[in-house]
Amino acid sequence: MNTLRTVTLANGKQSTILLADDLKDLSSHLGNYGRSVLWVFDTNTAKLFKQLPPVHVVLESGESSKNFVSLERILFAAMDEGLGRDGRIIGFGGGVVCDMAAFAASVYMRGCHLTLVPTTLLCMVDASVGGKAAIDFRGLKNMVGSFYPADEILISFDTLRTLSEKEFLNGLAEVIKHALLSQDEELYKLLLTKKNEILARDSETLQRLLDLSLAVKIWYIEQDPTETLGIRQMLNLGHTFGHALESSSHFGLFGHGSCVAWGTGRALEAGVSLGVTEKAYASGATKLFKSYGYNMDYRIGRGDWIDFREHLSKDKKKEAGKVLFVLLEGQGKAILKPLEIQTVQHLVIAKPIF
Ligand SMILES: NC(=O)c1ccc[n+]([C@@H]2O[C@H](COP(=O)([O-])OP(=O)(O)OC[C@H]3O[C@@H](n4cnc5c(N)ncnc54)[C@H](O)[C@@H]3O)[C@@H](O)[C@H]2O)c1
Repeated sequence: MNTLRTVTLANGKQSTILLADDLKDLSSHLGNYGRSVLWVFDTNTAKLFKQLPPVHVVLESGESSKNFVSLERILFAAMDEGLGRDGRIIGFGGGVVCDMAAFAASVYMRGCHLTLVPTTLLCMVDASVGGKAAIDFRGLKNMVGSFYPADEILISFDTLRTLSEKEFLNGLAEVIKHALLSQDEELYKLLLTKKNEILARDSETLQRLLDLSLAVKIWYIEQDPTETLGIRQMLNLGHTFGHALESSSHFGLFGHGSCVAWGTGRALEAGVSLGVTEKAYASGATKLFKSYGYNMDYRIGRGDWIDFREHLSKDKKKEAGKVLFVLLEGQGKAILKPLEIQTVQHLVIAKPIF
């Protein structure tokens, strides 16, 4: 077990990110916590264990489990087991399981210990790190939640063996986004030169990818742990356009990662059209996404525009009634800018400019 990184968040609370050699190494580390633990899985991640630990909750896989019913199930199980404040909740799964486990840990007896074991690439590079925990409420994503960083985040690439190609690419889109937001070009270069190794999920390359990607997320969140200073928001690059596409196509057309990739493409084009982003930089970044198979040329039909605009207007980042978008002035230089609705319409409907 190696310590990969340490993250310091609000009130000086620290999360340690550990990389396990394999699942056995991971299990023996967690075995040291003895019996005062409650594990949270979903129906897919539970399959990674031949025999589940004695005290566990298995949630139905998927976003629809991020709700009060799941929260109650975890809290019931914790109480039934007599877990104290010094007890530990272990979330073993993707972003859904980790968000649920973290939210439950944040409210159980006003906060108990929390370990997250992310088992999707997206959760390894993004969801498990940074302390955001939430459930969806009244049809809106992440409406009710808290900031509650895990004491430790345990990663084993063994868990990725069963992850589908689609889910792997969901996470990779966030990694490419991190590469554009990075203060240096190391991650960008790794993505350019090691595509085959990355797609083949070669452990050594994944370790480098994970480390560089985490460094970017940590750079933004440590400066703005509770997202109040306008720094952490920059990690939303591609998400404003992406979420509107994801919601307006009713979560069916593209996966989350493909929407983020597509949204980043639109943000780059917006930057070029406003004279904020250099055309060569935008075109290079778009090519990088395309090389990993993301559909950057997709445009919504004119008939879908009203629905798209409706979803866009629900975005939380607003200034004087206008939605704010993260744009790039160049490598690692993100800014927040309002866009005219006509500009947005043109960007999502008109033919690609690269
Ligand atoms: N807290 C944060 O900062 C943060 C950041 C980003 C995303 N999120 C949240 O994360 C969620 C998305 O996370 P996700 O993409 O990991 O989704 P997910 O947890 O739904 O996992 C995706 C799918 O992969 C399956 N799965 C997970 N691990 C597997 C494995 N090793 N082998 C086989 N199948 C496996 C799951 O059962 C699920 O079907 C969203 O709810 C989002 O809001 C939170």
